[in-house]
Amino acid sequence: MAGKKKPLVVITRKLPDPVETRMRELFDARLNVEDRAMTRDELAAAMCEADVLVPTITDRVDAELIEQAGPNLKLIASLSNGVDHIDVTAASKKGITVTNTPNVLTEDTADMTMALMLAVPRRLAEGANVLPSDKKWAGWSPTWMLGRRIWGKRLGIVGMGRIGTAVARRAKAFGLSIHYHNRHRVLQSVEDELEATYWESLDQMLARMDIISVNCPSTPATFHLLSGRRLALMQPTAYLVNTARGDIIDEDALIKLLHDGKLAGAGLDVYENEPALNTKLLRLAAKNKVVLLPHMGSATLEGRIDMGEKVIINIRTFFDGHRPPDRVLP
Ligand code: DGY
Repeated sequence: MAGKKKPLVVITRKLPDPVETRMRELFDARLNVEDRAMTRDELAAAMCEADVLVPTITDRVDAELIEQAGPNLKLIASLSNGVDHIDVTAASKKGITVTNTPNVLTEDTADMTMALMLAVPRRLAEGANVLPSDKKWAGWSPTWMLGRRIWGKRLGIVGMGRIGTAVARRAKAFGLSIHYHNRHRVLQSVEDELEATYWESLDQMLARMDIISVNCPSTPATFHLLSGRRLALMQPTAYLVNTARGDIIDEDALIKLLHDGKLAGAGLDVYENEPALNTKLLRLAAKNKVVLLPHMGSATLEGRIDMGEKVIINIRTFFDGHRPPDRVLP
């Protein structure tokens, strides 16, 4: 990029200071000083002007917006792992390259998955609330706050990509046996390391597991992959954890099963209609059937800075005339 005119890069959300500083140094960066998602009109206007758009998962960059984009827009460098908010096919048809920021949020998301996996059976949220809310705590009792142990249990991972594998490594260290369903089997060396069992049939795996962790991407093929019928196959003593995307699970069906006591509990970080929340989930949280987090699986300062650095590398590589490392194909 040296010596060339700096590309106009529109960044849709506030980013950590070090990332913004670097963006300002390198690009003609238009930063969003307000920490809110852009409106559709603002996004459309940005896409008319910019050489590069840096959206996040809160921007719906659909075919209609892409169609209206200005002639300069050549790159959509998303600050995200998932790209379900971008119509990658429409972008490709218009000659716009799309990139994402994989790998750097794998471990953080796996940590949070593990935290949810512990939180629900071990009644973490409920326990953490006792002392602040109950000044007359009567002390320890052998029958009080009994949760369910997780070690020795069977964990079924739906989607054994980078995050699923990182979850499996942690879970194995916590003494769970690892099972997984994926479009294809992972390398034999990975199966050996994790002592993992592959289930070609998702239905059969769901029926046999104590805990299910959803770690696949949201695509048209995974929409409601955990449908009402499939969720009903799970054992009434089983727990479900989702740190991937809300639309992979039929949320209404999940709520009904939890409400009817046909599932032991759920730990959720993602929802079907974010940021709107089904109020029935709040009622289940009040009964300690679910632990609800506000989509914070990858939310670490280090992770966000790493994501920003990846966006910068993708933009610079693109304008140096090379294929950006994190190009997403339709
Ligand atoms: C992503 O980047 O896809 C994450 O869900 C954001 O936390």
